[in-house]
Amino acid sequence: MIIILFGAPGVGKGTQATILAEKLNVAHLSTGDAFRSAIKRSTPVGQLAKGFVDAGALVPDDVVAKIVEEAMSADSFANGAILDGFPRTQGQADALNVLLQAKGLTIGKVVNIDVDNAAIAERLLLRGREDDTREVIDFRLSVYQKETEPLLQFYREMDKLVTVDGMGTVEEVNQRIIEAL
Ligand code: AP5
Ligand code: MG
Repeated sequence: MIIILFGAPGVGKGTQATILAEKLNVAHLSTGDAFRSAIKRSTPVGQLAKGFVDAGALVPDDVVAKIVEEAMSADSFANGAILDGFPRTQGQADALNVLLQAKGLTIGKVVNIDVDNAAIAERLLLRGREDDTREVIDFRLSVYQKETEPLLQFYREMDKLVTVDGMGTVEEVNQRIIEAL
């Protein structure tokens, strides 16, 4: 079973995915973490992704597909996974459906974590990752709105979407996600 944690930058996808993966004992794939690791090791995918990640732009779908296919071919993914930060475009969502069908896996739920933009900026500026500058945060939010948010309707039509209030403590949000699942 695949669980997708969906939402704008900084809503807590990574935080919640880590907790859920441990509680449910399934794999966790963060495409953002995978790119940061590839960039650090300067792999071919890392070199392709670097400029996009630094700028807060989306890495092209074909590069994303490489990293996702590689991660999901690991044995640990045979029983499913928590996907965090993927898919982010219609092309990625379509590719995921094809990949899952080939593996005999299905999407259980798409959990949309909802946090207002002011709280997002506050959280990310506090975190201080390299792409957590005021300018890049604003750009990532605009990219989310334009490219990624439309997928909400796609998953609503597939009857997979649940929306969870992402304000409050990490534990409170986690409790809401568990109830939604
Ligand atoms: P990615 O790493 O996915 O970044 P993002 O979407 O911008 O999301 P974040 O990781 O910033 O936030 P999050 O929702 O995981 O929140 P977190 O738990 O960390 O992607 C980075 C880049 O990689 C992209 O810009 C793009 O270039 C590329 N990329 C990645 N995937 C891609 C794809 N599929 N297609 C194309 N390009 C892709 O929490 C944020 C902070 O808030 C933390 O400090 C945390 O401690 C804190 N926090 C969490 N929960 C709470 C809470 N309840 N209360 C207070 N603070 C909280
Ligand atoms: Mg993250």
